Amino acid sequence: MNKATRKAIIAGNWKMNKTRPEAKALLEELKGMVADIKTVEIVACVPFTNLETALAATEGTNIKIGAENCHFEKSGAFTGEISADMLAEMGVEYVVLGHSERRQYFAETDETVNKRTKAALAAGLKPIVCVGELLWERECNITEEVIARQIKLDFFGISADDLKKCVIAYEPVWAIGTGKTATADQAEEVCAFIRAQLAKLYGAEVAEAITIQYGGSMNAANAAELVSKTNVDGGLIGGASLKAADFTTIIKAAENG
Ligand code: PGA
Repeated sequence: MNKATRKAIIAGNWKMNKTRPEAKALLEELKGMVADIKTVEIVACVPFTNLETALAATEGTNIKIGAENCHFEKSGAFTGEISADMLAEMGVEYVVLGHSERRQYFAETDETVNKRTKAALAAGLKPIVCVGELLWERECNITEEVIARQIKLDFFGISADDLKKCVIAYEPVWAIGTGKTATADQAEEVCAFIRAQLAKLYGAEVAEAITIQYGGSMNAANAAELVSKTNVDGGLIGGASLKAADFTTIIKAAENG
């Protein structure tokens, strides 16, 4: 299997942006621009408050909707949290898990990412699991150790069949929201390393089938080079997903990549 047979996925991660009217306007604009895209899976991961609006605005289109997090318990006394079942019932398809901002600001650990991934899979959601090294870790030359550890822990106890429902986003933390993109070669190097780790854990066939995205200051200008790389199967896009034209340029780059 090679890149051509894997699903390219371009997912927007809106983070804490957009009110409901703003969300509707952005998706209405995007809808028209990407209507003819067939070979790339387009996903908009939006704040919880926008999910219903986003699902309604994209009904019957080629845009899928995702959430930006979910809790690992099914229900109960977890004030302020949202369960995977709640998302699945709405018709949400994807969920971003283990984003570095969750790890950095909200005490997310590999253990809780693992629990959330299992909960999301049990609810029938497709997790987009984020991994990536800090700048300090890259400078200390331990990027591979960090990534190998995250992959082992985040997917611990997850079967090959379930892994195939997951997307992995390689997001070097130093590149997120900084305008400092990894070079295409750096992105390829780590995405290939992730695939090699998956091959060790699950076998080559499974590893070859998994979509691995790059994320971190991906934009309309640099997307084509990034997604042209053998092991980069799309992107998780923050800032540039908030502008329909830029997001569309990235999606079109993935269609040709
Ligand atoms: P960015 O964010 O594109 O704004 O760097 C990427 C992400 O956090 O997923």
